[in-house]
Amino acid sequence: MRAVNVGIVGLGNVGSGALEILAENAEQIRLKLGFPLRVAAVCSRGIASKKLPAGLGKIKRTADWREVVSDPAIDIVAELVGGTTVAREILDAAILEKKSIVTANKELIALCGADIWSQAIKAGINLAMEASVAGGIPIHAVLREGISGDRIQAIYGILNGTSNYILTGMEKQARSLEDMLAEAQRLGYAEADPAADIDGHDARYKLAILSALAFGERITPADIYVEGIRRISQIDFAYAGQLGQTIRLLGTARQTAEGLILSVRPALIPRSTILANVDGSYNGIWVRGHYGSDTFYYGRGAGSKPTGVAVVSDLMRVAREIRSGSPERVSPFAHERLGEYKPISVLEQSRPYYLRFRVEDRPGIIATLAGILADRHISLDAVLQLPSDDKRTLPFVITVENTSERALREAVDAMASLDFLREPPLALPLEGGL
Ligand code: HSE
Repeated sequence: MRAVNVGIVGLGNVGSGALEILAENAEQIRLKLGFPLRVAAVCSRGIASKKLPAGLGKIKRTADWREVVSDPAIDIVAELVGGTTVAREILDAAILEKKSIVTANKELIALCGADIWSQAIKAGINLAMEASVAGGIPIHAVLREGISGDRIQAIYGILNGTSNYILTGMEKQARSLEDMLAEAQRLGYAEADPAADIDGHDARYKLAILSALAFGERITPADIYVEGIRRISQIDFAYAGQLGQTIRLLGTARQTAEGLILSVRPALIPRSTILANVDGSYNGIWVRGHYGSDTFYYGRGAGSKPTGVAVVSDLMRVAREIRSGSPERVSPFAHERLGEYKPISVLEQSRPYYLRFRVEDRPGIIATLAGILADRHISLDAVLQLPSDDKRTLPFVITVENTSERALREAVDAMASLDFLREPPLALPLEGGL
């Protein structure tokens, strides 16, 4: 049977991983599909110096993506350049040329995926985007098909491999954030600008896509409260440990009576939860369904080959649909049409919180802080202080019982002017129920 031809645009970390798999695993792929999936063209800015894997056969090499998209022999374009400018031009051009698309581009999909999908429907082509969230975990397939019969109530996800690599290195090897980040960059986990990882923006794109898939609403990243991991220090792991907890950058989407509450932020989670065992660059996604209860998905969230597998599997799915002429494609967003999301502020959520202070030691500090909390009807749960010789930047922790985030923030703001504080208090929610 005639091959389905693929053009790969972008040979960075993900593109080269996908290309190596397509070359090395070509025979297995042919056996699974019943026809060959052939790489007909590759495009990269530095194509002249790129060494391509052996076994790809005759292949067009170009530095101009237009030569791939407009090539009549190509059936599917894999957009693996990332970013939102050239990538959008590539997708628009591919749709015009009626080429199906596979993309790993979380930012573009999170920002305008629903529009791109309606263009794709009109053009009668397919769009697949498994690699845009959680690298090697096939979470799109799960939400789009595997558990699409359920009504999703909540998603809790460790969605950024780099941040998780950093946090678990700080916790288990007592290494610094900077040191772990440099290693994550060397290993190819981090974004081109690693601030996107440690400030939570990468996870926010992924949560926007997952929430659109799970809840059928059009969620833009700006709707999601975000806070990164820069302020977490080793002392926080020591205190979290005393509470039977650990700290992870958690993407959370919860359906409440008022609506969907979304956030990406560092949170305390019980050491006993399966999410606490998601270490290093791995990702973990916990989905709570109304009928099917809890399911959990785990795998490498970053890296060339795991993400490459997601791209290649998407190429295979789209190739099958091209071959079978299937007009009944499942929307990549699982819903035929996304509804409008009415953002509910994270201020409306009620949680227990962890408050970590660094103070210049003197009598009366706890009484002052407790007074500010009491004025807002916030009840103390525990006060923790590990022995320390440093009386000029003494760390200690207060945990408080369930309170609204609004009241908690008012209290933290009221504490800002206290002269014994060496830095603003760090406030982290305790995520129970996991
Ligand atoms: N920088 C991302 C991460 C890569 O660390 O998870 C995968 O999106």
